[in-house]
Amino acid sequence: MPSVIPQPVVAQLTRAAVFLVVTVNPGPEHRAAVRALCGDLAALLRAVGFRDLEGRLSCVMAFGSDAWDRLFGPPRPRELHSFREVRGRHHAVSTPGDILFHIRATRMDLCFELATQVMSRLGGVVSAVDEVHGFSYFDDRDLIGFVDGTENPTEQAAIEATIVGEEDTAFAGGSYVIVQKYLHDLAGWNALPIEAQEKIIGRTKLSDIELDDAVKPTSAHNALTTILEDGKQLEILRDNMPFGDVGKGEFGTYFIGYARSPHRIEQMLVNMFVGRPPGNYDRLLDYSRAVTGTLFFVPSATFLENVAAGEAAPSSARPSADERGTEAARLRAPSSDGSLGIGSLREVKTHE
Ligand code: HEM
Repeated sequence: MPSVIPQPVVAQLTRAAVFLVVTVNPGPEHRAAVRALCGDLAALLRAVGFRDLEGRLSCVMAFGSDAWDRLFGPPRPRELHSFREVRGRHHAVSTPGDILFHIRATRMDLCFELATQVMSRLGGVVSAVDEVHGFSYFDDRDLIGFVDGTENPTEQAAIEATIVGEEDTAFAGGSYVIVQKYLHDLAGWNALPIEAQEKIIGRTKLSDIELDDAVKPTSAHNALTTILEDGKQLEILRDNMPFGDVGKGEFGTYFIGYARSPHRIEQMLVNMFVGRPPGNYDRLLDYSRAVTGTLFFVPSATFLENVAAGEAAPSSARPSADERGTEAARLRAPSSDGSLGIGSLREVKTHE
């Protein structure tokens, strides 16, 4: 069986990123345009990335639950569903999004150029719902001043944490991703003594050392986001980025977490927003408000390359409510045998 190539989920941390969330406008021609882009994304990336190979430009394209049905039809990734809001001491909202483009590079101009090329291909086909330009801040700190990303898994552990395997063979090589845009009350946060901030995060601020269990509260951010199954830690891969708009007093962290199952991230969110046990919630949320929340599936690069260009949608794909009954059910499904349809695999070249 030919191997399946994942998208660059496990890319190195970069200095710049664009997070672009769009919805697909109704109509078979719009779905056809998105499907065509799936097949051409690798070529667009090569064209822009070749302008500076040191820039390590990468792009992950991911799809929301409803969009999956409309664009590809069955089979669907086993654990794909819409983001489930969490209501506890604080509220993790669920917001719309059909497609996520997570664009990373060492230079913002590369990210910006790729986002521009993608959107000029999709002009009129999609509506942008959120666009965030993230930047690296000093020693990979977030705007609340703590180093963010230290405990991320690396190399093989990162792949094991994020890439779907035998648990869903039809979608092996894929991944799940949850994004949330957080806005900080920086004045409130900065008014706290450093020791209080460190107890909220669970690490020292300047030196980024984990607090000893004897002094770390059970409500610390890194305690509530540590989850175990059969004694083994269930990890996720984060690539959070600061963003902001000084003139508007907007200071934020764009949270992005990849995992081979969305359940891991959802469990962390329940621990943070409701508490473990309930009531013992994450005090970081007293100073950080989630204003978006969306779950996507990241199909493998092989799947994307093989999406049949030019076809409106597979016959099995469900049109949106307003289109129901108007679309001819004449097109074939991409993989009626439940496989990824990877017989004509073309090599995906990246310049990383
Ligand atoms: C305002 C938003 C957030 C900020 C500013 C933030 C910041 C941080 C910081 C500073 C650390 C410690 C350093 C590190 O290991 O990276 C950390 C750890 C971590 N965070 Fe967050 N985080 C945020 C949201 C989230 C969310 C929503 C999740 C998951 C749903 C999450 C999951 C984790 C995990 C798994 C760790 C590592 C825990 C460990 O193994 O020690 N974070 N975060």
